[in-house]
This record gives sequence, C-alpha cells and structure tokens, in this order.
Amino acid sequence: MHIHLGHVLTPKSGVTPDPTALLDLPHGAVAVEGTTITAVGEASALTEQFPEATVTDHGDRLIIPGLVDCHVHYPQTGMIASPGEQLLDWLEKYTFPAEARFADLAHATAVAEEFTGQLVTHGVTTALVFSTVHAHSVDALFTAARARGLRIITGKMCMDRNAPAELLDTPETAVAQSADLLNRWHGVDRLEYAITPRFAPTSSDAQLAALGELAADHPDVVIQTHLSENHAEIDWVHELFPAARDYTDVYDRVGLVRERGVFGHALHLTDRELVRLGEAGASLAHCPTSNEFLGSGLFPLASSLATAPGVRIGFGSDIGAGTSLSPLVTAGEAYKISRLSGAPLSAAELLYYSTLGGARALGVDARAGSLEPGKDADLVVLDPSTSPTLAYRAQQCDSTEELLFAVMILGDDRTVHQVVINGAVNGATADGVSVD
Ligand code: GUN
Ligand code: ZN
Repeated sequence: MHIHLGHVLTPKSGVTPDPTALLDLPHGAVAVEGTTITAVGEASALTEQFPEATVTDHGDRLIIPGLVDCHVHYPQTGMIASPGEQLLDWLEKYTFPAEARFADLAHATAVAEEFTGQLVTHGVTTALVFSTVHAHSVDALFTAARARGLRIITGKMCMDRNAPAELLDTPETAVAQSADLLNRWHGVDRLEYAITPRFAPTSSDAQLAALGELAADHPDVVIQTHLSENHAEIDWVHELFPAARDYTDVYDRVGLVRERGVFGHALHLTDRELVRLGEAGASLAHCPTSNEFLGSGLFPLASSLATAPGVRIGFGSDIGAGTSLSPLVTAGEAYKISRLSGAPLSAAELLYYSTLGGARALGVDARAGSLEPGKDADLVVLDPSTSPTLAYRAQQCDSTEELLFAVMILGDDRTVHQVVINGAVNGATADGVSVD
C-alpha cells in the first residue's frame, strides 16, 4: 500500500452528485493499493491505520482526482493555433490536411505518443478522443494509451461525404472497421471504443443509419460526435437533412441520442433539442477555448441544465480548435463564459466539471472522477508555487475556496506536480518503466 499525503480536494459521487459539494481535507491522505484507491481520510488516521504503508508527503500541495477531457482530437495535436477562420473554413484549410497525413501509420504512431505524453503532462487521466478516418489511427492511440495506463475512449472517425476523397469511407466500411476495432479493443485494460461519426454534414443518411444499427448492437458503448457548434454548420445541416426536425433529430432518428452519447459544443440548441437530450440522458461536452477560438459562441451551461436537468455535462479541450490541453485553462475559460452568461460557476463546480462531471458525462464515474475508495487510483498533485502569478496569489488566499478558485483560473500545465495514473506515478509503460 502507498499513502499520498496532502491537501485532498474532491467532488463526491452519489446518484445525482452535487456539483457544489466538495470533500476538503487540508491534512488529508489517499491510500492506494495497486491500481485502486482503498481509503481517503485524515492523514493522521490513515497513517495510523496502515503503519506498514509507504508514504509520499506532498506537503500542502493539492491532491485532486485525475482530470477528464470529454472532447479532444488527437490528430490535431500539431495544428493547434491555426488562425483566422470559422468552423467550416477551418476544417477545410487546416484540419482535413492534418488528418490526411494519418494515412501513414508511422505518423499516427508518433502523434499518438506525443499526444498521450501531453495528456500526462497536463494531468489528464481520462479522455474521450477523436481519431481519424484511418482505422490504424485508433490502433496507434490505443497502443500508446495502454502503455501509459490511461483511460482512453476513442473511435475511428466516420465520414462518407463533404470531405477530401482520401478521408472518405462508406457506410459499409465505416461499420465493418468500427466493429472490428470495437471487438479488438473495447474493454482491454482501461480502453473503450466509441462509435464516432464526425458530424452530420460529413455523413450520409445511410452512414448515420448504419452507425445507429451498430450502436443498437452495442447499447453500452460511447457515441461521440459534434452538435450545433456554428450557425453556418447548423444551416447546412438543415439543407442536408430537410426531413429532420432539427440538428439533434438528425442523430436521434437513427438511434444515436442516448446515454453515453457525448455531443461536442451544443451551443445553439432549441429548447426542444435540449429537453430531448436531457430525457435521453445524453451528455454535452463544453469546449470553452475552442468556442472562443473559432468564434462559435458561448455555451449556456446554467440554462441548458435548467431546461434539461437530465443532461450530463463535462469539459473538453477540443484540441486543435481549443487552445490548451490543460483542464485548468479550460476551466478558467469556462468560468469566464459562465460569467458572461450571467451564472458564474464556483470553484467547486469548476473542479466538478473537470473531474466527476466529465466522468459522468462519459459514463465512467463508477471508476473515475473522484477520490473515493474502490475507484481507480488516478490522482493529480497540484503545486500552485510553480508560476509566479499563482504562487503570489496563493499566498494571499484565506480559504480553500479562494485557493481552489485561483488554481482553476490561473493554473496550467506548470501547476501539475505529479500524476498518478491507475496507481503508477506519471504513468507506467507496459514494462513498468516510469515515463516522466
Ligand atoms: N465539427 C466537425 N469536425 C470538427 C472538428 O474537428 N473540430 C471542431 N471544433 N468541430 C468540428
Ligand atoms: Zn471537436
């Protein structure tokens, strides 16, 4: 057994957890046996209870749950900060060419290695990730993620129209390749498969229907796509799918709106769409830095929840439209957007949506998202003293609430002192060697 001592801060699970509630143990401890958290409590009590345990004392550093990214494109790691366009032009100009390079397996392998390394650096232990249309891009990511012990959910991007020819599949190949990857990878270690139509404009009716059938055969797997991000995109969807009631209905009528359906952006939904998503128990990935960067809009978090109480929400970086892989930076921008929307998020809520809220959105909250006995040992140790601005601000804080807020607003990858991934410090490679 190993015990981590520090200032423990975590949301708490429950049938419907309270995003504003926090377990706050300034002299806290997290006990880890193998890959699992076995106890969380006062430092003095746990060290007394388990005298044989080895101990790492993180002092007054914060120990929080492993961070969760609900929407990110690993093939876009190298094209982050490509300027000047809105969504559809940005896709044509930068994204499709970057993704076309993944025809080369060696390139996919190199980017997967870089991306998973960056996840660790940023304290992300669980992520829902888009790969490219190339099936081997999924193999590359799963292989790299497995070596680091990460919890990764990904799938082959499906697109059979409105993209360059070399990036297109067909309804049949999309289903055949998705099913093959699902059979080979789903449930291996902490890896899960996600059925992944890119978004409605790049899939024909026939492809969406075929993926809906695949989803029906696998009622528990994650489905990920994009929804209602940009006004030109929404207008295009209405033209392409005149028979659908609205954008959400394009997915819904083929069975793609359900629990563990994770819809990126969801900025401009009607009340009908929101109510339907909530009834279905679907999830929304709020991607603040992306929505700012592409000028897509401001996610109305509070009013979406008010309209659709059943909906689950997590935060996503949406790299490469997003501008940081750091969930702390993402949370800082989510705060500013919540402020602009008139319903500012609290520090506890910012932590919640970066951890347990995200884990609930992905349907992995039984194992991830909070520091609680029985869950996987994914811990992030945060050190506010590693950037001058946050270090000085932290010295002035009088309460945990103030300190956590400062960390969520000012923190970034420098703040991440150590990451424990499924019990291993900074992630263990398959042969047990640390990769820090
Ligand atoms: N909509 C369809 N594809 C994408 C993508 O790659 N990034 C973002 N932000 N939106 C999309
Ligand atoms: Zn995206």
